[in-house]
Order: sequence, then structure tokens, then C-alpha cells
Amino acid sequence: MADMPNDFWSGWIILITLISFIGLVWLVVSVYTAAPPNDAEVDHTTWDDNLKEGMNQAPLWWFWMIFAMMVFSVFYLMLYPGMGSFKGAFQWSQGGQIEERYRVFNDEFTELRAEIAVMPLTEIQADAALMGSASDLFSQNCSACHGYQGQGQANLFPNLNDDIWQWGGSPENIELTLRNGRIGVMASWEALLGQEGVTNVANYVLLLGSPEAEGHPGQARFNQICIACHGIEGTGNPLLGAPDLTDDDWLYGNDLDTLRETLRGGRNGQMPAFGDKLDNAQIRLLVAWLTR
Ligand code: HEC
Ligand code: HEC
Repeated sequence: MADMPNDFWSGWIILITLISFIGLVWLVVSVYTAAPPNDAEVDHTTWDDNLKEGMNQAPLWWFWMIFAMMVFSVFYLMLYPGMGSFKGAFQWSQGGQIEERYRVFNDEFTELRAEIAVMPLTEIQADAALMGSASDLFSQNCSACHGYQGQGQANLFPNLNDDIWQWGGSPENIELTLRNGRIGVMASWEALLGQEGVTNVANYVLLLGSPEAEGHPGQARFNQICIACHGIEGTGNPLLGAPDLTDDDWLYGNDLDTLRETLRGGRNGQMPAFGDKLDNAQIRLLVAWLTR
């Protein structure tokens, strides 16, 4: 009730509460203090031969029970919020309860969190309870995209369980990926290559690393355009998020049609940033989990 829109409404509610309360007291007292009606004035109709109407007063213990409840209400309204915006002597509020619990929670865990945030990864990895928390964190925040246990999904979300890292697999790089997110930027090459060029270069990508690649019709274009990011050998560049094109690991796929689609349309995979959603301890736990 502390956030009552203004004093007028608060006063109004206090007034209604008080008037209702006084009215109730008056009603109860008047029922019990009224003089019993003159017996002669009472209509003693008899029902079903033996059920006679009378005017007995309600038992007195009812009165004391109701009276005790009223006294309780008065004390309650003095101690707890109930009268408009009056907070009560205890200053109790639901928001206050939550703040109090947060305070207790933080006091209890701040130290532990600070410890985890700088704990060596091997130490975290050796602690089954911490790894359990890390796995829970992953399920809550990451598995919608990366799959239940990070196995990757739908030729869009990379597998995080293998040793292949598009953006670098050192703990520092993975931490940067989590904090800042990553946006893979590869433009469309259709205009530059033309349809035939797209097919040639896609075929060349499939041959990368094999002897047949030498002198392939796609080679010249590849060397001209693609090596800037994917490297002379096509092994990629984690600084740019340019994937290794010579391994067997494909984010979007390596059948000819998919490769042509990649070259025609470009690709822009986006990993969202978690720097302001997760705290340092949580990020540390996830890095440990991903490098286990
Ligand atoms: C400006 C840097 C840049 C250039 C130039 C570039 N790429 Fe890429 N390429 C990337 C990035 C970054 C990605 C990752 C995109 C993503 O994560 O969504 C990528 C992704 C790919 C993929 C998808 C790999 C997979 O795992 O599915 C293929 C195939 C590819 N590039 C081939 C090429 C070819 C062929 C060329 C030359 C015509 C080329 N790229 C030129 C940066 C580049
Ligand atoms: C909205 C979907 C989405 C969510 C949620 C998400 N990711 Fe990603 N993540 C991606 C995409 C897409 C990429 C690939 C980006 C690219 O193409 O370069 C990626 C890439 C990554 C990479 C880089 C992989 C590599 O090979 O370098 C890591 C590490 C990663 N995610 C971890 C996580 C973790 C940990 C979480 C949970 C805190 C998470 N992701 C949540 C979509 C998501």
C-alpha cells in the first residue's frame, strides 16, 4: 500500500476502513446490549407441531470471540500495512521481504561467486558440483540454440563439443565470445563471381587440400577473393571468425548446393552477447564447461 497514487486516496481508504470497523463494533455491541424483548410482544408461532419460535440471545462466548478478533484487528492495523499508505509500526512490505532475501542470498554467495570468477579452470573442472551448475547454466541460456548438450543444431548453431573453434578455442577467446557475442560477416559473392564462378569456386572448396585442387578452374578466383579471410591454404582465421574450409566440420554444410548458397547469399551467423546477462562467476563456469 506504500505506493498509493496520492494522499487523497490513502485518506479515503483509511476513512472507509475506520467507518466500517466502528460500524461493525456498534452492530455487535448493540446486539448484545439491547434489552431482551418483552415476552408478551414476541410472536411464539409453532412450526411442525413442536418447533416454537423464541427470542433467546446468542450465547455470550460468541461475543467474546468476536471481541477478541476486533482487538486483534486493531493491533494488526497498528503493526502492519492496512490503513491506506500507513506502513505499520513494523514497516513490513512485500518488496522489503524480497530485498531482505536478496541481501541474505548475496551475503551468503558473494564470496563464493568472487572465488569462482578467478578459480583456475582445471579446479572447476575437477569439481562435480560446479560442473553441474555449469551444465545447468548451459541448459538455461544456451541449449535453445546450441542443442541440449552443446552438440549444435540445424546447420546454424555450431557444435561446441568438438575441438574446432571458428572464433578460437583458447579460454580467453571463448570468454570473449560469451561476453561480447560474435557476428560472422561474409558478404555475398554472387555479383563478383557470376553463376559459373560460384559453381567453380564451390567445387574448388570441396577439393581444398587435395592434389586435384591445383589448376582447378575455381582456384584463381579463390586466391583472389577468399584467402584474405580464409587464408592461403583455406584453413581460416579465428580473428575474423572465418572458418577452416579444409576440415570436415561445416557449420552450414558442404554439399555443392549448400556451398553455392553460402557463396551466393553470404552468411551472417550471430552469437548473442551474454556479458550483461551473466555475471563473472557464471561466465567462468561456462568457459570451464566448454573447455572440459
Ligand atoms: C571478409 C572475410 C571473408 C571473405 C573474403 C570470405 N569469407 Fe567465407 N566466411 C567468412 C566468415 C566470417 C564466415 C563465417 C560466417 C558465419 O559464421 O556465419 C565465412 C563462412 C564461409 C563458409 C561456410 C563454412 C561452413 O562451415 O559452413 C564458406 C564455405 C566460405 N566462407 C567460403 C568462402 C569463399 C569460397 C570465399 C571466396 C569467394 C569466401 N568465403 C570469402 C569470411 C570471409
Ligand atoms: C540465439 C542463439 C544462440 C544462443 C542463445 C547462444 N548462442 Fe552461441 N552461437 C550462436 C551462433 C549462431 C553462433 C555462430 C556464430 C557465427 O556464425 O560466427 C554461436 C557461436 C558460439 C561460440 C563460438 C563457437 C566457435 O566455434 O568459435 C561459442 C563458444 C558459443 N556460441 C557459446 C554459447 C554459450 C556458452 C551460450 C550460452 C551462454 C550461447 N552460445 C548461446 C547462437 C547462439
